[in-house]
Amino acid sequence: MSVNKCLFPVAGLGTRFLPVTKELAKEMLPLVNKPIISYGVEEARNSGCESIVMVTGRAKKSLEDYFDRSFELEELLKSRGKNDLYELMIKISNIAEILFVRQREPLGLGHAVLCGEPICHGEYFGVILPDDVFISDEPVLSQLIKIHDRLGGTVVALEEVSPEDTSRYGIVQSEEVEPGVHRIFDMVEKPKPGTAPSNYAIMGRYVLSPLIFPILAGQNTGAGGEIQLTDAIKKIAVTGIEPVWGVVYKGRRFDCGTQKGWLSANVELALDTPELRDVIYEIVDRRRAE
Ligand code: UTP
Repeated sequence: MSVNKCLFPVAGLGTRFLPVTKELAKEMLPLVNKPIISYGVEEARNSGCESIVMVTGRAKKSLEDYFDRSFELEELLKSRGKNDLYELMIKISNIAEILFVRQREPLGLGHAVLCGEPICHGEYFGVILPDDVFISDEPVLSQLIKIHDRLGGTVVALEEVSPEDTSRYGIVQSEEVEPGVHRIFDMVEKPKPGTAPSNYAIMGRYVLSPLIFPILAGQNTGAGGEIQLTDAIKKIAVTGIEPVWGVVYKGRRFDCGTQKGWLSANVELALDTPELRDVIYEIVDRRRAE
């Protein structure tokens, strides 16, 4: 595939999970026994991206440590004959080439992407917002890369949301050109209720063009005093310097950036795990009987 780098903006403060995110990266919260970040990294690898760039900030050291070797632990597991766990530790640290870049101030998602320019300039690259965890047969990033390979240009993931939810997302104005594929002409970040141009919302997967960097660099701060990624993609769509496509992804999404979404993801994944399923049912049955 033509896209082999993937950028992970993970420098956000994670205020919706305070106090746990005071010292722990939100991306290290577990989904059953794996941290949120590993779902995104596995998706990038399974989409053909060999190189991963993480844009980190303060309180994110655990992310670097997670993907690093842990010699003491590895030796201990080996000496105790726990070979499966030893192999698992090696696999995690070998999953990809991972580079870390620091966003010194949390100036927004657009600014975080701009921090990746020294590594991603001159080529198309994937972007994964790891809070959006997707469970799908084909990795969602791969669904986007396939459209990029066929049609060129920038690609974003779309989901049809209910009209009352449009004010929570970036919403596109688009035309469906083939089943599940939209040409995007404009987009609005968090439109006021009743003013959204459609019900198609942008979710946390992108294939971005190197054209995005000069646009982000010249951009003033938008909503919330932050440099918005949506504003930069909108500029590409509105001016038509290259096409912007939207792919209605196939799969299930969990918004692990909120407590409600993170808890739902844990319950759903536990229900998918035969050894854990009964724990949930037993609690629910007991509480219902009370
Ligand atoms: P969010 O809007 O979820 O913000 O960022 P957040 O800070 O992570 O969480 P809350 O809202 O305070 O609870 C969306 C994505 O953009 C990244 C985040 O890490 C997340 O992956 N981001 C956001 C940055 O990397 N830098 C920023 O300045 C802002």
